[in-house]
Amino acid sequence: MWPAPRHPRHPHRKGIPMEIPVDRPRTGDTLGGAPPGGASRPRVSHGGLSQGGLSHSGDERSLGSFASLRGRHLLDRLTPFEQWRRPHAEQGVWGYHQQTLSHPFTPRARTRDEFGDEGSGVNLLTQDYLALSSHPAVHEAITAALRDHGPHSGGSPAAAGDTPLAEELCGQLAELTGMRHVVLFPTGWAAGFGAVNALARRFDHIVVDELVHACVHEGVAAGRSTRITRTPHLDHGAVHRALRRIRAEDAANGILVITESLFSMNSDTPDLAALQRTCHEYDAVLLVDQAHDIGVLGPGGRGQAAGQGMHGRLDVVVGSMSKAFATNGGYLATNSSSVAAYVRYFASTHMFSSALTPLQTAGALAAARIMRSDEGQRLRDELLRNAGVLRRELARTASGPAPYTVLGVPSPIVPVEIDSLAVGRAAMGVARRDGVLLHLVEFPVVPRGRARYRLQLSSAHRPEDLALAARVIREAVASARADTTTRPEDSPVKRR
Ligand SMILES: Cc1ncc(COP(=O)(O)O)c(C=O)c1O
Repeated sequence: MWPAPRHPRHPHRKGIPMEIPVDRPRTGDTLGGAPPGGASRPRVSHGGLSQGGLSHSGDERSLGSFASLRGRHLLDRLTPFEQWRRPHAEQGVWGYHQQTLSHPFTPRARTRDEFGDEGSGVNLLTQDYLALSSHPAVHEAITAALRDHGPHSGGSPAAAGDTPLAEELCGQLAELTGMRHVVLFPTGWAAGFGAVNALARRFDHIVVDELVHACVHEGVAAGRSTRITRTPHLDHGAVHRALRRIRAEDAANGILVITESLFSMNSDTPDLAALQRTCHEYDAVLLVDQAHDIGVLGPGGRGQAAGQGMHGRLDVVVGSMSKAFATNGGYLATNSSSVAAYVRYFASTHMFSSALTPLQTAGALAAARIMRSDEGQRLRDELLRNAGVLRRELARTASGPAPYTVLGVPSPIVPVEIDSLAVGRAAMGVARRDGVLLHLVEFPVVPRGRARYRLQLSSAHRPEDLALAARVIREAVASARADTTTRPEDSPVKRR
């Protein structure tokens, strides 16, 4: 059951992207260092784009394969990527860059792809965990901010870009995080990057869970330290061993240990108290990214940290407002006034980037107030009920095991792991056609050759829609899997 071709302007196109799952070392892959001449050429047939770039059996590439191209001409060497990508998009099996036509958040949404084709159905794409982007109080606050302060910040926080709303927002975030000092950033990405950027420098050591968000990995790279240890996901023992080794060799420089309180691709959580105890044994500092759980999980919405008795007791936290606060924005919070003061001047994404606009600040402020109210608790309860429904329905099968693995613990994220990227792509296209909108993530965000659906829940989803979505996903994956296992190599792909 493959998605039908949707582009009559290419009626001659045959086949859909097909990638064989392999888990090879990075040698020879363009990500790890390609041979001169760039990425291995896509299989461009005589049919050009009619087949050229479509990845048939034997093509194991994913987005990450094109991350680090080599070649003499900086621009010319990029062509193979689009030759490889575009046919996937034309076949409706490309998960990126859809436009949403139905904002603010609705449990059912409409999207449009780059060719203008529309999809509609149960919305598992949008991060709006408490559905606050459509809350009247948030809209009223934004309207009032437009009237009172205008739409524009006009400068970085260091250059008078903040209004008094920013101070009020910091107050709300201080309550939610339990920290005394809060520094705002234009996005959660900027907060993660800026925190690492300000705190860890060239001679310092960084110990980082391999699955932290890209903003942290970029911040680590920008700090120019070569003393980086990437530990296996949630492997406390590995962190301990790394700290012991580092301190045995270097008593003079700093160590920053970085993790997340709810991992966005796995929906799981470290033991924060134990991790911080281990850090302190070696004079290391723990930085925790709370992007996905602040306001959303834990007692009073104070996050997984509060659930573990660590509210206000972590060394440094960062977070994002784009998941639950109905707007873009990020923050760093700490109990140390010196740390906050330093970060204001030495986190480049705070110092040199325009402040949150008054509209964003007002929206986040209104959202934070709702989170801390009884209504916020009701919304969190509804969200967790929805997580339970979706997880239960995904596990329900008529016979045999489900054709995927649902990872992690109940949260706004339901990660569905599929052991074949080809199956994941094809099933995503079918699901879209059958009324379920979801986001597929591939290597390098998840292991090579695999696909993951990061299903995003909201308190506003209706349980019956989630049951329907689970059935569509289950059937789409099962039939895509059956097709890939029965289809002879390079034979035309069956469509319905
Ligand atoms: C853990 C984590 N940190 C930071 C970010 C970036 O947040 P923002 O979208 O606000 O830039 C994300 C976004 O997905 C995330 O998952």
